[in-house]
Amino acid sequence: MSRPTLLLTRRWPAAVESALSQRFDVQFNDEDRPMAVDAIAAALRDYDAVLPTVSDKLPASVFDGDPIRAMILGNFGVGYNHIDVAAAKARGIAVTNTPGVLTDCTADIAMLLLLSVARRGGEGERQVRAGQWQGWCPMHMIGTKVTGKTVGIIGFGRIGKAFARRCHFGFGMDVVFYNRSPIDPAEAARYGARQLPAVEDVLAASDFVSLHCPGGADNRHLMNAARFATMKSGAFLINTARGDVVDEAALISALDQGVIRGAGLDVYEAEPHVPEKLRAMENVVLLPHLGSATEETRTAMGMKVVDNVAAFFEGREPPDRVA
Ligand code: DGY
Repeated sequence: MSRPTLLLTRRWPAAVESALSQRFDVQFNDEDRPMAVDAIAAALRDYDAVLPTVSDKLPASVFDGDPIRAMILGNFGVGYNHIDVAAAKARGIAVTNTPGVLTDCTADIAMLLLLSVARRGGEGERQVRAGQWQGWCPMHMIGTKVTGKTVGIIGFGRIGKAFARRCHFGFGMDVVFYNRSPIDPAEAARYGARQLPAVEDVLAASDFVSLHCPGGADNRHLMNAARFATMKSGAFLINTARGDVVDEAALISALDQGVIRGAGLDVYEAEPHVPEKLRAMENVVLLPHLGSATEETRTAMGMKVVDNVAAFFEGREPPDRVA
């Protein structure tokens, strides 16, 4: 019997590519070049499964028209706002993601950003590398203390909780959060956290605000000019969620006008484009979407895709099916 054919849109960890090769006929993207929307649309016509990732674009148009051969999209990533899931579903295509395995690493990156922006780590490193450090003195590069401050978390799912745990038990922070659905106070207390009724309540109470909600239409520009104005003037924004959760133009003007003190960003509205104005600001720490970028996590993400696709072609329910 012939084996299902798969296309990977990018290179994946070697152990995962090898696990896939053992089970399927796989077309790898040897040069690891980003695939254009048209090429992905063509792949949907040519392969039994397409395995995209979070930097690909699969709008409704890729599912339009000609007969489609792909039966499943095994997404490499927990976020899937780059896929028009409703359009895929309408064509009878299953969609899976990779939850659970990137929780700790993403929470770690949020902590890294929080500490870096508060303690001016990026600026300090740039100064040393440029050979401009003049030596220790009492007023050199004064930052903001983290321990004991209040952190506000928007979205109290797996990553939000893991981040809360780090903030409360690691740094003695008071943790408040907003979540669309109510969380049992006893469950919240396990993370040293307390739910507040509205996003605005969290923003007004917090010295640091960290975003951990999904991207996509529901949360697009959740952080807008009005909400930046609700934050404390000395507060910092941390975003490891999705770029579209923040109105980037409003963020730039909030930073410019001192409405907030700084930001730590791992994600952007039009990746990999990062606005020149943000790149020029010293009070902003910028990472290139590194949340899950550890050997352990990227391998675990890939293995989740293997499990999902294998289950699908064996006639079982894929464990991480989202559509
Ligand atoms: C995801 O999985 O959605 C992250 O953004 C990339 O690891």
